[in-house]
Amino acid sequence: MSAVELAGLRKSYADVTVLDDFSLRANQGELVTLLGPSGCGKTTTLRCIAGLERAERGEIRIGERLVACPERRVFLPPNRRDIGMVFQSYALWPHMTVFGNVAYPLRVRRRDRRERQRAVMEILAMVGMDSYAHRPVTELSGGQQQRVALARAMVARPAVLLFDEPLSNLDAKLRRSMRREIRDAHDRSGGTSIYVTHDQEEAITLSDRVVVIRGGKIQQVGTPKEIYTKPATRFVADFIGFENLLTATVSEARDGSTAVKLMSGAGPVWTSKGITRAPGTEVVLAARADELEIG
Ligand SMILES: Nc1ncnc2c1ncn2[C@@H]1O[C@H](COP(=O)(O)OP(=O)(O)OP(=O)(O)O)[C@@H](O)[C@H]1O
Ligand SMILES: [Mg+2]
Repeated sequence: MSAVELAGLRKSYADVTVLDDFSLRANQGELVTLLGPSGCGKTTTLRCIAGLERAERGEIRIGERLVACPERRVFLPPNRRDIGMVFQSYALWPHMTVFGNVAYPLRVRRRDRRERQRAVMEILAMVGMDSYAHRPVTELSGGQQQRVALARAMVARPAVLLFDEPLSNLDAKLRRSMRREIRDAHDRSGGTSIYVTHDQEEAITLSDRVVVIRGGKIQQVGTPKEIYTKPATRFVADFIGFENLLTATVSEARDGSTAVKLMSGAGPVWTSKGITRAPGTEVVLAARADELEIG
């Protein structure tokens, strides 16, 4: 079992606190996406889970194991956390072949030669790169390098996979097909994955659950459908692509329908989404452009 759990995490760089009292859980077998704008703390969160950064406070658990807790002086280095990571920049070793790169995590784990050969070729076949095994990685396209990075993260069958915007350097078409491959790879691994992106479409199509972050704080956690249809805050609504956000006041509520008056005094505008708030409550009226018709 390898759920990932963060509790009360605090991480600062010099005098800037990026995460404060940050808590999050990804269940065994889940693919959870961290979605938020640039600088909100997504990479910092992943690096803390991987053991590439040390938080000043809080706990990180992978499965039953406490892997980091400064208060109890616990800190497991990255190679003892049973994780695989795919970085935005691929971070392949340029002086090695495809095979050499993918075999690396197995060498670190001291697997014997025959086992390495078998596992590397099997994972390369899975990402469609087995015929490139002996190419230097410098002679690959961006998409091919990304496949190698994915294979390297998965070859040792880690319990947890961490993805830091792995597709942002690829063109739109390749991004969509790689997205499916990542989802398949996650499903086949049977492990837990945490995926970082600032692309709402990617988060919605790929994940079991989405965590929306702003300035190091969690704004909403939900299934893609919940996030897409029921954003909890104005920020989430805006980030998830509601083009129309209008401040309004509830004027009437009955039979599961609610009427609001817009700031300008216009209205009432009725909604039957089953959201009932007391008259007088200030709310945000959110609508996607393609839901509105002009008669
Ligand atoms: N090594 C560092 N030293 C100082 N500040 C840092 C360091 N790494 C990150 N930060 C700061 O911490 C904040 C969060 O950075 P982080 O890289 O986690 O953001 P992010 O959500 O991954 O953004 P992006 O989408 O641009 O990758 C930013 O304000 C960033 O400038
Ligand atoms: Mg980042």
